[in-house]
Amino acid sequence: MAVLGCVGFMIVYGLKVNLSVAIIAMVNHTAVSHLGDHHDDSAAEDDHHSGHTTVGTLVVDDGHDATGNSSGPSLDECGLVAKKENLMDGPFAWDENVQGLILAAYFYGYLFTQVPGGWLAEKFSAKHVFGVGALVNALCALLTPVAASASYVWLLIMRIIMGIAGGVTLPAMHVLIAGWAPPQERSKISSTVYAGMTLGTLVCMPFSGLLAATLGWAGIFYVQGGLSIVWYCLWLVLVYDTPAKHPRISKEERKFIEESLGTVVVVEKPPVPWKSVWTSLPVWAIIVAHTCSNWGWYMLLVKLPTYMRYILKFDIEANAGLSAVPFLCMWIFTMLLANVLDALRSRKMITTTFARKLATFTASMPPAVCLIGVTYVGCNTDLAVALLTLGTMFVGGMYSGFLSNHIDIAPKFAGTLMGITNTFATFPGIIVPSFVGYMTHGNQTVEAWRTIFYITFGIFSAEAVFYSIFASGEMQEWAKPKPSAQAEQQKLNDVA
Ligand SMILES: *[C@@H]1O[C@H](CO)[C@@H](O)[C@H](O)[C@H]1NC(C)=O
Repeated sequence: MAVLGCVGFMIVYGLKVNLSVAIIAMVNHTAVSHLGDHHDDSAAEDDHHSGHTTVGTLVVDDGHDATGNSSGPSLDECGLVAKKENLMDGPFAWDENVQGLILAAYFYGYLFTQVPGGWLAEKFSAKHVFGVGALVNALCALLTPVAASASYVWLLIMRIIMGIAGGVTLPAMHVLIAGWAPPQERSKISSTVYAGMTLGTLVCMPFSGLLAATLGWAGIFYVQGGLSIVWYCLWLVLVYDTPAKHPRISKEERKFIEESLGTVVVVEKPPVPWKSVWTSLPVWAIIVAHTCSNWGWYMLLVKLPTYMRYILKFDIEANAGLSAVPFLCMWIFTMLLANVLDALRSRKMITTTFARKLATFTASMPPAVCLIGVTYVGCNTDLAVALLTLGTMFVGGMYSGFLSNHIDIAPKFAGTLMGITNTFATFPGIIVPSFVGYMTHGNQTVEAWRTIFYITFGIFSAEAVFYSIFASGEMQEWAKPKPSAQAEQQKLNDVA
């Protein structure tokens, strides 16, 4: 279940990010640059060595300068040779506004199905909510080339549907984990599963680049969509909602899981106590941590490549292998921390509350310090890369921290809670790109970035402080199953 869940997240997140690679190969850059006079990309504006406006990071370098701007290699202030880049033309003349709209469409769908997704999974079947969510993404990916050829409006609709379907997966998975993971193995299992989100991004970017270069841009969608369908078949056959519903589970394993969860008697799912949820400080601690952490995470994941490219003049294309290193470190750190914390908890050396707080602190303050450090290392690219690697690595603490916390405080409502916190946490994904664009528009300077990173430092600190004070690892009163009327009667009789 954990491994297939991990691959499922790789699919959902891979199919979400592959468009940012594919779109570079899909757009006719020649046509777009002739459309209006200037669609200045804020990033490229400052980079006068670059012949073309670039939207992403995939560059097809065919070895010669197509712009005829052959002044020879020029050196920047750090003494590095600036790279010239050419982009291959694709069939679609979408300007930057249309491209931005297409890339953002996913978020709009994603935002609205978090809470319904959690509710559906708790009420019906987490297996099928997650499975169908991923399947719809796969089918939409397969249809993307056709939709794009028809009109960008169809592609927009396709992306919104993908967002809607993708939105249910995270809360549904939380429900599934709540049904399967014994409390002492919870960090380990959620870390394995949620690592798929990062792994998907990590694997999909270079894989998409490779597919675009060999099979053309449509190949990205056909190959990745096809592989996802294979995953869905395995998911249908091998994963079940609970140990009780699994036809091939051994008696011992079923007994072990059910006893550790205390779910031998399946009780009717009670309605969500909304008032208690919204007035619960441990819930707000997770909301704040999830939202603040996502802000920092988007900075590291999405905006740092821009910083590296324009401020450090770091050649990302030539160092494609290197860009995987931070995530590899993060993954190893995530698994190590999860295992250590689970072991300490099961030996009763630390409480769950302490484990969650420690992991969340690790995921916020060290990365915040590393980000600030990066703006002070000047042209020392190696040191900057080392700091960024460390920062990204520590963020991995979030999987054993607040991301496992929903199940601790309210196992029955884990999906709904995850839906709530992830709704809040989706806003940074929408705000960060515009915020960075606003701060650096025509102003790609270390100072502008330093301001951005100090604000991020503040947000990470808010996360650490708020969570350390208000979080809890214990099941909340309002989440405890109410004794049934019959049991109540029995108790009275016993007393009598
Ligand atoms: C891109 O647009 C230019 C100018 O409109 C056109 O000449 C060229 O054929 C187009 N390229 C592709 C691949 O469609």
